[in-house]
Amino acid sequence: MSVPDSPTPADAGALREEARRLLAANDTGSFIKPSLGQYPHQWNWDTAFIAIGLRHLDRVRARDEVRTLLRGQWGDGMVPHILYPDGASDYFPTPEYWQGDGVEGAPPFPTSGLTQPPLLATAVRRLHDDAPDRDASLAFVEEVYAKLLAWHRWLHAARDPDATGLVAIVHPWESGTDNAPRFAPAMEAIVEPTPPPYVRADGAHVRLEERPLPRDYDRYMHLIGLFRSWRWSAEAIYDGSPFLVQDVLFNAITHRAESDLAALARDLGEPTEELDAWREASAAAFESRLWDGASGRYLDLDLRAGRWLTEDSFVTLAPLFGGIPTPERARELVARHLGDPERFAPGEAANGVRTRYLVPTHAKGSERFEPRRYWCGPVWMNVNWLLVQGLRAYGMDDRADAIVRDSLELVRRSGFVEYYDPRDGTPCGSRSFSWSAALTVDLLEVG
Ligand code: GLC
Repeated sequence: MSVPDSPTPADAGALREEARRLLAANDTGSFIKPSLGQYPHQWNWDTAFIAIGLRHLDRVRARDEVRTLLRGQWGDGMVPHILYPDGASDYFPTPEYWQGDGVEGAPPFPTSGLTQPPLLATAVRRLHDDAPDRDASLAFVEEVYAKLLAWHRWLHAARDPDATGLVAIVHPWESGTDNAPRFAPAMEAIVEPTPPPYVRADGAHVRLEERPLPRDYDRYMHLIGLFRSWRWSAEAIYDGSPFLVQDVLFNAITHRAESDLAALARDLGEPTEELDAWREASAAAFESRLWDGASGRYLDLDLRAGRWLTEDSFVTLAPLFGGIPTPERARELVARHLGDPERFAPGEAANGVRTRYLVPTHAKGSERFEPRRYWCGPVWMNVNWLLVQGLRAYGMDDRADAIVRDSLELVRRSGFVEYYDPRDGTPCGSRSFSWSAALTVDLLEVG
């Protein structure tokens, strides 16, 4: 099938309608789950991506997505990465596995004890900025603002107690890019994992060749076992977790979210000093702690090992989403990474790997690149969306247009799936994936 460069109105209308149908099918009545089989509960950053797209279809409902997620907020401000308001399913980890009940400040229904990239404030700002019903929208912002701020306060207090300016993640799942090879050295440092007994369930819905390896799963569960033995104390976890990383992506999203919170604060007449101070500190720390001038990349910092994680992944481009690099550095980063067929550009790398679609999540010249395994190389629609936003903010519209074109071609030929093989677009992972549908709508509407 030949695919036009930009969608005709009829084609865009059909895609939008398909996306609407998928989101309706994944609607549980109170929230939209990430996918039909594999992910039957409510996930944190999925909710933000879904709300961003859903606002073009049903803005009132998009606000409700934000509200339902915030119902899972813990007393200390943490917003968990998974909420199980309807109890157990065939998903693993089960609600019980987290052993969160009875923990002080936990909500009345089970949740995970981890968090995920705080994209929610950005979603709320998008929802508010183009809302035609200004009064209702402002009332909504007023309703959620303090909760969003509490989450960010928790991030800085619990995850940056030494005031470095950057927040740390304590589990790869908190990055949202669960199985990313960039974390491999930090995970391999857990030499003999002792996970509490568990049985994986992902093989029931998705081909295991496209999922994390058993050795990674043992380490995920090992970390959860430790944290639950510490009764989810944020202090104990920060002090004791063998995995402690200042992740470029997580911090770029945090920085962007705090700029968006400041914009919301101004609309509400709330002070912005605290937010301004966080943003200033994190911008400086991106430069002093995460920028490797020698390789010209932003790199995650492994706090336990005291060194950078140097695998070549898309995260070096994530600071554009945060608005962090100077325009000159942003252009260099893009030319050097997005424009390089050894890494992310279409074409053939020296190792013979030939890709067609933007943007592989891991550099194809890397030995750890695997085009169909979860986060080890496939194209993900949310990553493409984040990069499009960053490129547009720096005026690199041609680059952004190319990513939008590839994204639309992928969803047209392979549907709204979880991820795509960057060589030929083969659909991977879970089918009927909500954020792929929602973000397609946003790309069609806003570009
Ligand atoms: C996978 C992704 C994570 C997402 C979740 C639900 O675990 O890695 O980012 O939130 O699925 O879609």
